[in-house]
Amino acid sequence: MVDWWRAVVIYQVYLRSFQDGGSDGVGDLRGLTRRMEYLAQLGVDVVWISPFHPSPQRDFGYDVADYTAVDPVFGTLADVDTLLGRAHELGLRVLMDLVPNHTSEEHPWFADARSATTSAHRDWYLWRDPAPGGGAPSNWRAVTGESAWVLDAKSGQYYLASFLPVQPDLNWRNPDVRTAMYDVMRFWLDRGVDGFRVDMVDYLLKDERFRDEPPSSLDAHGRYEPATALYHLNQPDLLQLLGELRGVVDSYPDRLLVGELEYRLPAAKLAAYAGDGNLLHLPINFWLLFLPFTARALHAFVAEYHDALPRRAWPNWVLGSHDVSRVATRLGPDRARAAMLLLLTLRGTPFIYYGDELGLTDVPVAPEHVRDPWNAVRPGAGRDPARSPMPWDAGTNAGFTSRGATTWLPIGTSNIARSVAAQRDDPDSMLALTRRLLHLRRARPALTTGALHLLDHGEDATEGVLAYIRQDEDSQLLVAVNTTGETKPLETGEWRPGRTLVSTRSREASAPSEDLAPFEGRIVEVQPS
Ligand code: GLC
Repeated sequence: MVDWWRAVVIYQVYLRSFQDGGSDGVGDLRGLTRRMEYLAQLGVDVVWISPFHPSPQRDFGYDVADYTAVDPVFGTLADVDTLLGRAHELGLRVLMDLVPNHTSEEHPWFADARSATTSAHRDWYLWRDPAPGGGAPSNWRAVTGESAWVLDAKSGQYYLASFLPVQPDLNWRNPDVRTAMYDVMRFWLDRGVDGFRVDMVDYLLKDERFRDEPPSSLDAHGRYEPATALYHLNQPDLLQLLGELRGVVDSYPDRLLVGELEYRLPAAKLAAYAGDGNLLHLPINFWLLFLPFTARALHAFVAEYHDALPRRAWPNWVLGSHDVSRVATRLGPDRARAAMLLLLTLRGTPFIYYGDELGLTDVPVAPEHVRDPWNAVRPGAGRDPARSPMPWDAGTNAGFTSRGATTWLPIGTSNIARSVAAQRDDPDSMLALTRRLLHLRRARPALTTGALHLLDHGEDATEGVLAYIRQDEDSQLLVAVNTTGETKPLETGEWRPGRTLVSTRSREASAPSEDLAPFEGRIVEVQPS
């Protein structure tokens, strides 16, 4: 039997923005439970929920103050149980976000750690004396671009915080930290969650000697590219640690371990973190966020990634997340449609970011309403625009929260016009296209577990068209994506085209050999000729 997680589609819910079940203008667990049916009908299989633990919300839940409880802003433990029950009843699985690299500074572990150098939890975090001449112990940088070392005035030592200063990094070389976090995982697995998306898993282990990143890798501001850092993250013994995390998950039947990694990790590194199918089930591959949307770049990466992955590992693809600009903003509406077709037909498990099925665009936030702290530390880097509330209908507050409430971020008038209600019955809408693609995946296993063969057009007339065959014993499908703004012939090589199953241009099935319109993506049934 095929592992279930190879054929599924994962849908990311940024909880604050999906559905408010109360009237405080912030999405929550009850709201999401109410909308589970929408997700089931859309045709996704797994719902990944952003963190809902008690938290000062300085990084909107990625700063956890208690790993085994629920922040009142999102609900209660009983609401989690109800949510899991509803999801499972509808045949959906649920992934939780696990944030093990750092806690909130308000976590009792850190409060104790910082209380005295001799405290029981001191070594649960990473403390160092100043460098011999004074100053930070190493040249490591936080996501803010500033030093990752924060001076603790009380002890005169520095603690490491690779993200915000309010998010101190845990010391995963301390066995007590591992035990505590494995207990956290079991707490939720016992409750019935189907697995975890592990936040920034490649940061868990640091060089034991905290060595400086070499001068040759530093830019003019003393910064280095985290994906290729030598000492701050991605340490060799991480593989063994990933095996331990996997062991916890595997002690329960059918659970899934997804790991978030630095964005630009080379394909070989992504492959290494999958191990021989025994480490991360899915080391998240973010390359679709950065590759130019050209047939050439996409073709080269798909080939490289497939070559790199060991036999028992499995690809995965991401078009959007709560940390980057939305795909419809990055690529524009036509290419966003083609990109959705690509996402749902490439070989591998796709992640859909909530609202991308509606073609939502970034919602600008006025400076006085900025919520994301990243904006304060790196002006312009704020992630609010991609986190705007989900528009369900055209009413006040778009059905996201009650009419009188103030939403935590603006919904945006152009996104309200793209609401679920506005698109539901329009067969040419982005929502209808996404639904068609999702349902076709279920009907045609060739699109999920089938083989992928890239068609190589070289320098000929179809340059600009990414084309591949998805194939199993029952069907052969040609996928062609015109990445250019010009009409292109549909080259089918040695394959005889049959019916068009989906086109991003119109619900009307195009004639099989009709040219591809600008930015059109098409799925055509083919036979060997
Ligand atoms: C991940 C999360 C991001 C968060 C960061 C620190 O990148 O996706 O939202 O700010 O980790 O936890």
